[in-house]
Amino acid sequence: METPRQEELLKPSRIPLSIVLPTYNESQNITRVIDSISDSIPEGTKAEIIVVDDSSPDGTGSVVADYANRLGQGMKKRLHIEVINRPGKMGLSSAILAGVESACGDVVVVMDSDMSHPPQTIPRMLEELAHSKCDIVVASRYIKGGGVSGWPFKRKLMSKGATKIAQYSLGITVKDPMSGFFAFRRQIIEGIKFDAIGYKMLLEILVKAKGARIKEIPYTFTNRRLGSSKLDTSTMIDYVRAVWRLYRYGRSAPEEKRRSVRFLSKAGRFYTVGASGLLVNYLVSFVLTALFPAIWYLHATIAGIALSITSNFILNKLWTFEDRDFSAKRTLVQYGMFAGFSAFGALVQLGMVYYLVESQGQSYPLALILAVATASISNFLLNKKWTFKERVWG
Ligand code: GDD
Ligand code: MN
Repeated sequence: METPRQEELLKPSRIPLSIVLPTYNESQNITRVIDSISDSIPEGTKAEIIVVDDSSPDGTGSVVADYANRLGQGMKKRLHIEVINRPGKMGLSSAILAGVESACGDVVVVMDSDMSHPPQTIPRMLEELAHSKCDIVVASRYIKGGGVSGWPFKRKLMSKGATKIAQYSLGITVKDPMSGFFAFRRQIIEGIKFDAIGYKMLLEILVKAKGARIKEIPYTFTNRRLGSSKLDTSTMIDYVRAVWRLYRYGRSAPEEKRRSVRFLSKAGRFYTVGASGLLVNYLVSFVLTALFPAIWYLHATIAGIALSITSNFILNKLWTFEDRDFSAKRTLVQYGMFAGFSAFGALVQLGMVYYLVESQGQSYPLALILAVATASISNFLLNKKWTFKERVWG
């Protein structure tokens, strides 16, 4: 049971700082980590340490409980230690989440319990949160001044690889999104539903805390001296699952869709419309010559071109660019531009085929493919930017 005095201490306003320490078999490390943290947090700062232990077979949980009981009165005033005991090994991210959920501080720091993360970095993190206007501070191995000490080559490679995957597939710009050492204002994650799969809690926060301002500061990760890493093959499988879920998450929130996804889906529609235009072009020309044998074939071709440009325009306006403004002036101006760009594209195509075949000695089929690709890409970009007034990327 908690005494009223402890309750009082736990009120959000009384504890500005919560430090979450996930543990699994860290009995050899945990007290040293807590000692070092309490030496490092700035004078006058009240903090709570939340150890989330998954019933470690080596008794980490009771080691922490004993340690908390032995704290002197003076110490107890500035440091509150809490242990969350979970029934079994349930994974790092979910342990962090459990700790964060029970945190009372305005600011939450998350770090490992094996001395890999230097607590001396914590004051810098708090300072950044307080003085520069940011919401998340990532302690980073991969910016200037940061590094890794004691990892074998293979582990370094894996970490870099995982980092690149996150950056490319999730559009993350943070240099060390895999960091297990970070701090944030608790309010920025309010209302977020977390999957908490695997190891990568920070990654999930980076993807889901929309609009959060992020800052990275350097630190050197030191491989643990005692105990062993809990990272194994299943962690890697979990990683792929986690990234996949986050990727789909990015796609499912319509207004937040990543730019690449939006850009590609529009390009896809534009090309589909282009293909339908070819069909219209052919059909119109053939039908006309079939119905009116007297018609000059060039007239039939011109009619085919004109109609396919028109149908392309209407489909692109409605479907590709989802523009529902059909006021006469706007529509006419757009139609004019669209037809102009089509003519321009045809000229580009013609010129390029000529150049590639005549001056570069390319074969006609290859020249044609290159020219059509160039003309249609420039057509797409020009219409996107000028006819439908969208930004080019996104
Ligand atoms: N409660 C709980 N449950 N804690 C866990 C679990 C779990 O299932 N798995 C790991 N931990 C704790 C460990 O006791 C340790 O304090 C911390 O989480 C990190 O685990 P390690 O096993 O030491 O991870 P690592 O050193 O290999 O990986 C580190 O580097 C990665 C970046 O490459 C960690 O900092 C990762 O968070 C980080 O992503
Ligand atoms: Mn470790």
